[in-house]
Amino acid sequence: MALGVGVAGLRFGMSWARVFDAYAETDLVAVCDLEPEKRDMAKQQVGVDTAYEAFEELVGDERMDAVAVFTPAPLHADHVMQAIRAGKHVLCAVPAAMTMGEAKALVEVVSKSDRTYMMAENWVYEPTVVRARSLYEEKKLGKIYYAEAEYIHGLKALRHHPDGRPTWRNSLAPLLYPTHGTSPYIHMTGDRFVEVTAVASSGREAFQEGYEADWMQTALFRTENGAVFRLMNSFQNVHGMSHFLSFFGDEGSFETGRFREARTVGYYSIGDKEEVTREVCSHPELPQFSDALGKGHGRTSMQIVLDFVVAIQNGTPSPVELMLALDMTLPGIVGVQAVGQGGWVEVPNPRSWV
Ligand SMILES: NC(=O)c1ccc[n+]([C@@H]2O[C@H](COP(=O)([O-])OP(=O)(O)OC[C@H]3O[C@@H](n4cnc5c(N)ncnc54)[C@H](O)[C@@H]3O)[C@@H](O)[C@H]2O)c1
Repeated sequence: MALGVGVAGLRFGMSWARVFDAYAETDLVAVCDLEPEKRDMAKQQVGVDTAYEAFEELVGDERMDAVAVFTPAPLHADHVMQAIRAGKHVLCAVPAAMTMGEAKALVEVVSKSDRTYMMAENWVYEPTVVRARSLYEEKKLGKIYYAEAEYIHGLKALRHHPDGRPTWRNSLAPLLYPTHGTSPYIHMTGDRFVEVTAVASSGREAFQEGYEADWMQTALFRTENGAVFRLMNSFQNVHGMSHFLSFFGDEGSFETGRFREARTVGYYSIGDKEEVTREVCSHPELPQFSDALGKGHGRTSMQIVLDFVVAIQNGTPSPVELMLALDMTLPGIVGVQAVGQGGWVEVPNPRSWV
């Protein structure tokens, strides 16, 4: 029987509702959003009959086995815990948490439950990252001793509600959204960031326009395996949207293109060679879904849904289970602390909280 799924948060969450609606192994039984227009839109576009205003009502729906949490990031931890306590499996948007207190509470609740948790981090599934991981697993890169990630995304249009009130994004410290940068390296190597130092900078006040966060935050991490990692995040800038990743191994190196090419164009050198190979990387074929459902970024959502469902069906940990999700998230929370206090700050191991 198909798994009953509910989706909460119907902006980014709408694309996930479409995937759950289209997949034969899942049945989209309800959606939830505070805004009536979003609920009506979902009823029209995905043909779902039940649309709740309150998250509490959604998780109380007995037809539902799993909940997909795509509400604003400051609500993730609370919504995940409510869903787990209601006996639901949870797929949650990034980041897993925004504060150390939320992260500890999540560990307390999720680790005592037999429900599946997965953080919906698409960068683990982007074609260049999958290619880098295959080279790493084939031992072509050797030990990675240095890596970098950049995420540059001007999000002005999403910083205010239509009535002018600021959204959570208007005051989002860039490092609190670290997982697109941290996840590829952590997922690939199993390494953990143990210490962070970080700095911030901004453009001139005249261009601030009520923005309440640093324009750019840059963190340096030391890892358990002795590597160094640089993460740069910016959500206010005059720069095209861009991602960038690079991995320096002692037997080979890999880096992505920049801007939108980061997802699909990889460059690598293997062995003692000056030669650089440029490769266009593609998503796998996904016969479970029609091409009309989405290309590019959307294909990563489909793979996440497939893996989430397999983990539930087999009772196995999901590919981005809570501890891994926190290994990707906590370095950013501590990074913001490091911006404020300076010096090196320890990143806790969430496994020590169990
Ligand atoms: N590539 C990615 O992985 C990616 C991309 C975009 C967004 N995200 C994440 O997905 C989440 C959602 O992003 P977004 O851009 O749609 O955010 P958003 O703030 O633009 O929209 C969130 C939606 O949730 C609704 N909502 C707010 N509070 C709610 C509540 N208590 N109960 C039910 N609904 C509620 C809002 O009305 C809105 O429709 C965010 O946490 C963001 O970090 C991830």
